[in-house]
Amino acid sequence: MASQFSFSLLAHDSTTAARRSVFCTPHGEVQMPAFMPVGTLGTVKGLTIDMVRATGAQMVLSNTYHLALRPGDEVVRHHGGLHNFMLWDGPILTDSGGFQVFSLASQRKITEQSAMFRSHIDGSLLDLSPEKAIQIQENLGSDVAMVLDHVVELPSPKEVVRDACERSIRWAKRCQEAATRDDQAQFAIVQGGLDPEMRVWCAGELAKLNFPGYAIGGLSVGETPEAMYAVLDAVMPAMPVDKPRYLMGVGRPIDLLEAIRRGVDLFDCVLPTRNGRNAQAFTDQGPIRLRNNKYQLDREPLDPHCPCPACRHSKGYIRHLFIAGEMLGPMLLTAHNITYYQRLMAEARAAIEAGEFETFYQRKKAGWTAAGG
Ligand code: GUN
Ligand code: ZN
Repeated sequence: MASQFSFSLLAHDSTTAARRSVFCTPHGEVQMPAFMPVGTLGTVKGLTIDMVRATGAQMVLSNTYHLALRPGDEVVRHHGGLHNFMLWDGPILTDSGGFQVFSLASQRKITEQSAMFRSHIDGSLLDLSPEKAIQIQENLGSDVAMVLDHVVELPSPKEVVRDACERSIRWAKRCQEAATRDDQAQFAIVQGGLDPEMRVWCAGELAKLNFPGYAIGGLSVGETPEAMYAVLDAVMPAMPVDKPRYLMGVGRPIDLLEAIRRGVDLFDCVLPTRNGRNAQAFTDQGPIRLRNNKYQLDREPLDPHCPCPACRHSKGYIRHLFIAGEMLGPMLLTAHNITYYQRLMAEARAAIEAGEFETFYQRKKAGWTAAGG
């Protein structure tokens, strides 16, 4: 199983836990640390597939839950799998639905057997078991399938967190046993809320199962950034060294660098796409809101060094697109923001190779937090 996958550590930073690595999949390599744009429904919203590639993205994320509801995983399979359906020939990771059951579905009832919930689209009753989550992801044909996990809100009582964490481990085993494809690798997901001991225990239990990759889940669900960093401080030393480490659903540019210096290799987040559609652009001076009046007469691009299609235009033009409700505005800022995240990861990789991640981190952080950003 998973022989078509390999993970190699290429370099370690000199003063932080940051790692430079490469993950090989049947659809190509992912240079890490890496950021996956979110393509929930088999599309990175607002971008053609050529635009996605031009951002420098190597791997994209898509969702079991959404695609199983619409158009249905059998339909995607009929179209030759998700790669063929969306014309993305690079690696694809699919999330299992565990988080979407928690965040989107109404009237969920989680038993040992499965998660029962109502569809957020038509209210129909659905039943997602670990075996079903894997079967769906095998129909989608993603390179990496996430195990089905039980996510709880934070804060939750300790017993609730422990119960969900233990169930997530049992479900991870069932996912592993349900696998039938050797061109799909499964990543396990460490849960355990904000409890450092439970996180370390969960990571240890999952490590025994020898998954080809490990994720940290259950974060970015309302806790402070400092609480999230504290969880990473506790759990990262307990994560297998020789496997990719993926922090799910995170985050802001600063969160990515904070996680990389603690040893995380892979990320996904809706921020660059969702915020781009809302006229927010990420820059080295922090995020800016392009609807602001002060950009009306601005003839400069967002970033003169950025190779994206938005940065051929002035900020004044992009503002005009948003004020006029033109669809090109969201498209351009989505392309810019994903390009920004990809360039940040490329810079981080270079800084780790040079053994200078700490200096790089300090410099970026100073720019993002400077007044007027
Ligand atoms: N996306 C963000 N956080 C999580 C998580 O804890 N579990 C899953 N399956 N997906 C996520
Ligand atoms: Zn740009």
